Amino acid sequence: MSLNLFNISHDAIIANSIEGKLNAVREISSLWNSKSLTKENSIEVYDIKSPGRPEVIKIVHKTDLPKRNLNHREGIGAFIHALTHIEFEAIHLGLDVIFRFRNMSEDFYSDWINLTEEECTHFELLNGHLKEFGYQYGDFPVHAELWELARLSKNSLLERMAVVPRMAEARGLDVSPSMQNRLRKAGYLKTEKILQKIYEDEIGHVGIGSKWFAALCEEKKQNSFDTYISILHKYGFTELRKPINREARLAAGFTEKELDYFETSLK
Ligand SMILES: [Fe+2]
Repeated sequence: MSLNLFNISHDAIIANSIEGKLNAVREISSLWNSKSLTKENSIEVYDIKSPGRPEVIKIVHKTDLPKRNLNHREGIGAFIHALTHIEFEAIHLGLDVIFRFRNMSEDFYSDWINLTEEECTHFELLNGHLKEFGYQYGDFPVHAELWELARLSKNSLLERMAVVPRMAEARGLDVSPSMQNRLRKAGYLKTEKILQKIYEDEIGHVGIGSKWFAALCEEKKQNSFDTYISILHKYGFTELRKPINREARLAAGFTEKELDYFETSLK
């Protein structure tokens, strides 16, 4: 019997172990590339309250996270741990798009499977690097805001594209150059190199969000600028801090009009 794309994506979301999750994503990718996955007899879509995470992961509110002062070992450990966690959650975000949004084109699923596989590579790069500092994933508390944002936008692919890749992940493009600068100044050159690789890939990931956001607007005959801005307001994203990274955002499919709006209307 052939495996089903949505069922194995769901299995990967709820897998608790790191190894189980990464293996599941790579299996999805290889089966998809050999056209061995069906879309029949699928598990029904439902609200997944929490993705599978290793037992040691402690979820706290964002305000209770440890400080990330790069001048001492624990600070750089906390910093790399926070990024490692973002990449772990990014795997869930990619898988959830595949699992949840049905009846899309082959091109759509190919994009999201490739993206999710790249998130696995990002996680492995950072998780391996974390060990070089003597820490393990789970040694520091983490927050679950990215998954909560996915849950809030679970009923609309258009909203999901606007708030996850085109808001939360695009924010990563804005802050990455200054983070890399801080790391360089503090002498963490390997960390900086890993961040540069992730930054380059993330431009592509945000670009995938822009591509499908635009395609959905066109299909629904909606003005993409007005739609984007109204979704940002609906979700309360009205206080984007400057600076924004125009160059990276343009490469990731933002329009000049959207970027001008950010520059003039936001803080
Ligand atoms: Fe990533």
